[in-house]
Amino acid sequence: MIRVGLIGAGFIGRNHFNQYARLGQRAKVTVLCDQDAARRAGDWSGVGGNLGDRQGTRRDLGDIRPCTDWREVVADPDVDLIDICVPTPLHREIAVAALQAGRHVLCEKPMALTLADCDAMLEAASRAAGRFMIAQCIRFWPEYVYLREAFTDGRFGPLRALHLRRQSQTPDYSLNNWLLRPELSGGAVLDLHVHDVDFALSLFGRPQAVCARGYRRAAGSLDRIHASWTVRQDVVLQLEGFWDLHAGFGFNMGFTAAFEQASVCWDLNSGRPLTVYRTGQEPLVPALGPDDGYFGEIEYFLSCIERGEAPRASTPQESRDAVAVALAEARSAAAGGEPVAPF
Ligand SMILES: NC(=O)c1ccc[n+]([C@@H]2O[C@H](COP(=O)([O-])OP(=O)(O)OC[C@H]3O[C@@H](n4cnc5c(N)ncnc54)[C@H](O)[C@@H]3O)[C@@H](O)[C@H]2O)c1
Repeated sequence: MIRVGLIGAGFIGRNHFNQYARLGQRAKVTVLCDQDAARRAGDWSGVGGNLGDRQGTRRDLGDIRPCTDWREVVADPDVDLIDICVPTPLHREIAVAALQAGRHVLCEKPMALTLADCDAMLEAASRAAGRFMIAQCIRFWPEYVYLREAFTDGRFGPLRALHLRRQSQTPDYSLNNWLLRPELSGGAVLDLHVHDVDFALSLFGRPQAVCARGYRRAAGSLDRIHASWTVRQDVVLQLEGFWDLHAGFGFNMGFTAAFEQASVCWDLNSGRPLTVYRTGQEPLVPALGPDDGYFGEIEYFLSCIERGEAPRASTPQESRDAVAVALAEARSAAAGGEPVAPF
């Protein structure tokens, strides 16, 4: 049984909490840490979100110990896994301390706001006994898993073009609206768009160059980005991410993948399942796994700990690369779309 210290009981902390509850034979949250008294006591009635469990409810936490100070959780010898679900500027300090204390660490994306912070986390991980993974849930999301399998096994021929998109109204659910302060969240380009950056990296590896257009809003936040990557001569890769739409739109994610022999399309907001279109044939709706990527990432990380293996489906180095590419896109956008080499 893997004993989990969950730090941060906001939107994503609650979603992680739900997954551990489902995986009760293998893991148990033993400590719940949050600066907010109601949240660490299981009152999540004021906690919103954009995906997964969006409705806050009160929970009976039973024997789970509430805690105010994350340092106590990290130092607790009865905790095996530290799950970091606090705002991004705290990721580095908590991850490094937890790795140095010998714990396994699952840390939310984006890995950090700067490459220096990412590198400090990688360095601590390289000396640590514990396993370390950034929670890149989209790599584990069933529709994206299907797309990656089709890309990898070539069942529809070579991929010619891919459009990845993540679209949102301006988020209004983070505690004290920290998401809207770019010095804390990195804006949409880091907080939202990094999911698609990371997924594209999982398909193509590091791009030679990126070009992007976007704009900053009043608070200086880069909240819209349209990017094109140079990955291979025979593939057009376009990524877009924004959270500047008006209230009422909600949240959407999806992709359009043009393979030589089929188009694989999915759009969360359409309500239609992932569909494969082939000339002269009925559209195909493949059966996908029932669990979302939050479950998939946590189940996978637990299995890595149980097997004593470093995660391979999503490595911390790749998560660092995702931050590097998102930052390169931001530099390109600032330069009016000039190509930028991220590495
Ligand atoms: N994978 C995803 O799809 C996804 C979705 C949302 C957020 N995230 C990431 O998860 C992280 C948290 O985002 P969120 O949306 O859950 O934010 P949130 O505002 O909903 O929750 C953050 C929680 O952290 C707590 N907190 C802040 N500082 C603390 C401290 N020093 N000690 C203890 N608790 C503290 C706050 O009280 C709050 O309850 C961010 O890095 C964000 O980018 C990932």
